Amino acid sequence: MRSSFNIQELVDRRKKGRSLEAPFYSAPEFLDLDIDAIFRQLWVFVAVEPELPEPGDCVTVEIGGTSILLLRGDDMGIRAFHNVCRHRGARLIDERTTTIGNIVCRYHGWTYNEDGKLILAEHMGADFDKDCHGLKAIHLRSISGLIFICLAENPPEDIEEMTRVMEPYLALHDIANCKVAHTTDLIEEGNWKLTIENNRECYHCEGTHPQLTVPLSEFGFGFSPDEMDERRSEDVQNYLKVLERDHKRWEADGLPSAEMDRLSNTTSFRAMRLPLMGEGESHTLDTKIASKKLLGAFTDAKLGGLSFWTHPNSWHHFMSDHIVTFSALPISPGRTLVRTTWLVHKDAIEGEHYNLENLKQVWTMTNQQDADLVRLAQIGCEDPAYEPGPYSQFTEPHLETFCDWYIARLQEHFASCELEVPAE
Ligand code: FES
Ligand SMILES: [Fe+2]
Repeated sequence: MRSSFNIQELVDRRKKGRSLEAPFYSAPEFLDLDIDAIFRQLWVFVAVEPELPEPGDCVTVEIGGTSILLLRGDDMGIRAFHNVCRHRGARLIDERTTTIGNIVCRYHGWTYNEDGKLILAEHMGADFDKDCHGLKAIHLRSISGLIFICLAENPPEDIEEMTRVMEPYLALHDIANCKVAHTTDLIEEGNWKLTIENNRECYHCEGTHPQLTVPLSEFGFGFSPDEMDERRSEDVQNYLKVLERDHKRWEADGLPSAEMDRLSNTTSFRAMRLPLMGEGESHTLDTKIASKKLLGAFTDAKLGGLSFWTHPNSWHHFMSDHIVTFSALPISPGRTLVRTTWLVHKDAIEGEHYNLENLKQVWTMTNQQDADLVRLAQIGCEDPAYEPGPYSQFTEPHLETFCDWYIARLQEHFASCELEVPAE
């Protein structure tokens, strides 16, 4: 039987430098809190623009019981609405993706245009005011083609800072002129925070990801070069030399590469262009480009990999020839949807410029390997013997950053709501 706990007490007594106590990962009360304090308040990554290439293209996303409808209009703008009919509330678009003219509710035919305005509602009488029954809009921001939405009435304004910093990094990869080559939905059997924690360290990479680590140096993914023990000093020095050389070369070519790390209680992110070792060009098994059509105006295949991580729920890898984006969305305390999207140049033809199997292989295998670890972490932290364990200061500094951010976010939420949470 689960022991009782007090949410605010658990948040306040969190020990720095250690993983969280079990209820954070397993209790429904914490998931509800995470949805309220984080997923309904902050900017959340949900899609990429090439998922909606044409007017009328529509994508739906679920966040904590809220269904969001993204729609590209005739003016090529993308808008987000609550996917709920203003008549009696029926779900408007029931598919994950579709193409529509107007938004027509299947129940009684109420019809909304691309701005969410109600344009047809039969049998409602002469006094009925259609203008008061438009779809509820949701804030949306596309950062160089990466679509973030915010369910809050007043979204955090520091999305401006993320846009300002990141657009020079992302724009050169020209997402607008990409197409979706492949998408997968993987349900990880773990809490969303375990999915993110697993993503923010590469302590596990050497032992778990033989495919991913072929062109990567572990030192690039959160492994601190400060740990210069005998065994590793040569590898560290080699990596630092490559890093300095490649950054110099890329920056001289107008390709922003330096590490960016912005931490706030709201829109936090980190980005860095990392070298691919040896002759590495891309995240493929042979480390060569997967698509012969390079992105944007690139002519050089050896541009390393630009990685971009955001709190609370996304990470992205931009190579010279393709892009892979990931969003993690909670389904239940112990289940998380990881949606992965592979993008190539819109003119790249499968079979001619790229082989889909080759393109998706590394991250398909890596995702599955990560999902297995997240499952083990989840069942382990639900075991009565579990107690918060120490993060490695050398390989897991970004977990500490994430957990600090998470706890601060909850505390701010308590303060702003003056929540009084009863003990269970
Ligand atoms: S519930 Fe949508 S038209 Fe009636
Ligand atoms: Fe991993």
